[in-house]
Amino acid sequence: MSGADPRGMDAADDEPLEPPTVEATDAPTEGRARSKDPARALVYVQKLSKVYATRRSLFRAPELLHALSGVSFYLKPKETLGIIGESGSGKSTLARAVLRLTEPTLGRVVFDGLDLMALSPRELRAQRRRMQIVLQNPATALAPHMTLSELVAEGIDAFGLAASRKDRLEQVVGYCHRVGLDERLLERYPHELSGGQRQRVALARALAVGPEFLVLDEPTSALDVSVQAQVLNLLGELQRELGLTQLFISHDLRVIQHVSDRIGVMYFGKLVELGRAHDVVTRRHHPYTRALFDALPARDGTRRSLPIVTSREAPDPSAPPRGCAFFSRCSRAEAGRCDVEEPPLAETAPRSRHRVACWFPHEA
Ligand SMILES: Nc1ncnc2c1ncn2[C@@H]1O[C@H](COP(=O)(O)OP(=O)(O)O)[C@@H](O)[C@H]1O
Ligand code: SF4
Ligand SMILES: [Mg+2]
Repeated sequence: MSGADPRGMDAADDEPLEPPTVEATDAPTEGRARSKDPARALVYVQKLSKVYATRRSLFRAPELLHALSGVSFYLKPKETLGIIGESGSGKSTLARAVLRLTEPTLGRVVFDGLDLMALSPRELRAQRRRMQIVLQNPATALAPHMTLSELVAEGIDAFGLAASRKDRLEQVVGYCHRVGLDERLLERYPHELSGGQRQRVALARALAVGPEFLVLDEPTSALDVSVQAQVLNLLGELQRELGLTQLFISHDLRVIQHVSDRIGVMYFGKLVELGRAHDVVTRRHHPYTRALFDALPARDGTRRSLPIVTSREAPDPSAPPRGCAFFSRCSRAEAGRCDVEEPPLAETAPRSRHRVACWFPHEA
């Protein structure tokens, strides 16, 4: 999780958003890692979309709510891609759809050469060991009737990872130590733990099955500021030590800047800018990215959430606009172009890794 790269764009490092090959899904693949080539992406997310059908009342037809629209990116091994966006921009939907915890409406995810959308439930269950999620609110994510040791052992048992009871206990204690939990807490229930301790339990649970890919959905957003910093430091240590590939989602600009190798900016269910963390933060090509980062307070500032970009209304996800979704709030918008044609997430220069979805992006 190095963050900045002062060289900016690097053509030699370019990676297409398409995976080179997708292996047959009926191959015997369970629990086996096959691609450790650092140059090859571990995860390809392609044109992922999710439409929820919601009904305001029994007497009304369901509305189709476009939560995620055509999101594509890749993740190289050991890389952290940070996703930043306002509440309601589709971040949690993305987190769940990438792992197929919610069924995407369109698109696919290729994980280590496997098309996740084509896996049978049994094959998908076997792959779950390799892909774990950590959620924002550990109070609701942890079953209240289970003790800390039962919670951490659950995945170890489900995947048969312990050779004996003694081995199982040693693993549980080992993971608790690794995330900074005292073993005297092993028989405690979630409600007897602090918010920070609960999030460490959630992390120990995820790590106990030995994942390669971790999706973190606002993992520190529910914690006090001082605890947030401790958990972020722990996450950084673990990522480096275990070589985890991470999709790290947050509405907190500081957190995203701190943890990300690359950053994706989400607006209205779409990626509007994607590139190396340093490039996105310093160049801010998209008017939305610029508005977000321009409004970031000084280092001693206290604001932790995203600023309100403009007072103008965001579009209605059940009636997506024809052109650019940021049109209604954009100071650079040009009627006749921006409201008519949707800008694609295009390279900012030939073979650049920096992409922006805007007809009139800011110059660097
Ligand atoms: N299960 C669901 N059913 C219907 N609408 C949903 C559901 N989950 C999320 N949404 C809607 O999808 C949009 C994106 O939500 P979400 O992915 O939770 O965004 P974020 O995590 O960025 O706040 C919002 O408009 C939200 O109301
Ligand atoms: S395409 Fe037009 S409306 Fe959309 S962000 Fe760019 S300038 Fe603004
Ligand atoms: Mg969310």
